[in-house]
Amino acid sequence: MLNYRSHNCGELSPKEVNKKVKLCGWVQRNRDLGGMTFIDLRDRYGVTQLVFNMDTDSELCEQARQLGREYVVQVEGEVKERSNKNLKIPTGEIEIIVSELTVLNSAIVPPFIVEDETDGGEDLRMKYRYLDLRRNVVSQNFVLRHQLAQETRKYLDSSGFLEIETPVLIKSTPEGARDFIVPSRMNAGQFYALPQSPQTFKQLLMVSGFDKYFQIVKCFRDEDLRADRQPEFTQIDCEMSFVTRDNILETFEGLTKHLFKKVKNVELPNFEVMTYAHAMENYGNDKPDVRFDMKIKDVSAEFKGKGFKVFDDSEFVCAIVAENSAGYTRKQTDALIEFVKRPQIGAKGMVYIKYNEDGSIKSSVDKFYSQDDLLKVLEKAGAEKNSLTLVLSGDKDHTLAAMSELRLEMGSQLNLKDSETYCPMWIVDFPLVEWDEDSQRWHAMHHPFTSPIPEHMNMLQDNPGEVCANAYDLVINGVEIGGGSIRIHDKELQKQMFKALGFTDEEAQEQFGFLMHAFEYGAPPHGGIAFGFDRLCAMFGGTDSIRDYIAFPKNNSGRDVMIDAPATLNNEILEELHLLKKEPI
Ligand code: AMO
Repeated sequence: MLNYRSHNCGELSPKEVNKKVKLCGWVQRNRDLGGMTFIDLRDRYGVTQLVFNMDTDSELCEQARQLGREYVVQVEGEVKERSNKNLKIPTGEIEIIVSELTVLNSAIVPPFIVEDETDGGEDLRMKYRYLDLRRNVVSQNFVLRHQLAQETRKYLDSSGFLEIETPVLIKSTPEGARDFIVPSRMNAGQFYALPQSPQTFKQLLMVSGFDKYFQIVKCFRDEDLRADRQPEFTQIDCEMSFVTRDNILETFEGLTKHLFKKVKNVELPNFEVMTYAHAMENYGNDKPDVRFDMKIKDVSAEFKGKGFKVFDDSEFVCAIVAENSAGYTRKQTDALIEFVKRPQIGAKGMVYIKYNEDGSIKSSVDKFYSQDDLLKVLEKAGAEKNSLTLVLSGDKDHTLAAMSELRLEMGSQLNLKDSETYCPMWIVDFPLVEWDEDSQRWHAMHHPFTSPIPEHMNMLQDNPGEVCANAYDLVINGVEIGGGSIRIHDKELQKQMFKALGFTDEEAQEQFGFLMHAFEYGAPPHGGIAFGFDRLCAMFGGTDSIRDYIAFPKNNSGRDVMIDAPATLNNEILEELHLLKKEPI
């Protein structure tokens, strides 16, 4: 059999010296040094140096000189040890003395340099994403993604889970974001929705008796985009029957540990379980980054009632302490004040107290507070000497949220977010519902099929705001990696839940009748979870942006700039889809 290549461009080493080899790839670089021509040949495995010598074969060397960037070539030659080794790359100890060269395809000049270090900006690289994906630093991300998917399948398969596909053309799922809508040609005036998740289908699969289901599945949500959100993204979606919350946490703690061990060779510690209330009180956030401590402390009692109007008029005053930071300059504290005043954070200002090494205290509110007053605040906040205490005030919810952002910023400024440390945790006991001011009704915080915790079952009717959900999030280093819940499988409880959410019987029937009806045929107790797969990949890769782990992502306006989507449709198609009335002839 005639093969295009004997090796790839990432595998040759001094072990193969003097061997005859055949390689294929793209011309990454062509350096003509007069007597010699050097070519870096790239494929997805790496880069290998090719050598053409004018003295030994001038015709071949001349041919090599003509090769442009990104030409596709096949070469035959002999592996030689390099005199000038490049130990930064795996193939850097060898080169190929080429004896035969075949141009498999020419290429027009690429719009940016297709190398790890590129001159292409984000927009250009997205427009030519297929070229961006040739760069080894980018293609490696997809090797990682593949490994994670394979290890996920292995683990879940060996735990008895079945991979089952659910439909993509469905009716709305109650996940809380907007749906992407698909018009139906065959059913005038009617629309499918793309799934925000397979939530209702996986619950139906439990009714069918598939007691352990999973799927690595595309989900679609029409929401505002950020670094960790794409309109179409992938979940590792799972559901189990006859399980308690703790069974689920154990299974998926197991999956997470398996992935870290197999793919990253990291032994994760046992996962901390933290209540939502504790997370909010101490970190101002339901996905705390606990790689560093710096807990939020309530200093309202210490600060209020001393004549400083800003604090006296505030519902809540809280502080964080940055250790070893009394040396912050005026410029640095001013920058922090600017940081908290940004509209996304929305604080009106910030007070600081420096507790110097010599025991002296200097604050931005010295006019209003004696040294004794400030010392009491510092004690409550847990400040030691040589620290900087930062204080925010206002209504409780907004102030905690702003303090959470400031805490994360200080964590970054003080290099406290160690990239090699992973702090996985389960956040549990979320509120079941939250009050929505706009619609003046309760909304399910997770989704309407989430069960209350057993102790709170009978509070649903009279006191929904106080009920805790039997829901859980998996959080690692401040990133929400996954979330799920134990579901309601009892018809009466589900009715009560819809009632608490302000649905009339007809509305509940109209939207979820199929599920409620299915539950009448013997629904097992069940629950599940979904991991954000793109977020998991980004965490393993050590970045915040999930786009780097999606082969063809959308930009922040939800556009695919490469294929130029979304796009308009011509009137004929719109008419066919019943989206446009036919013009009378
Ligand atoms: P949830 O809505 O919490 O739960 O989603 C699960 C996980 O999916 C990820 N995620 C996203 N990732 C990228 N882009 C997005 N736009 C995006 N939205 C969510 C997050 C999140 O933790 N059906 C339930 C799960 C269940 O109850 O079993 C669900 O979808 O990492």
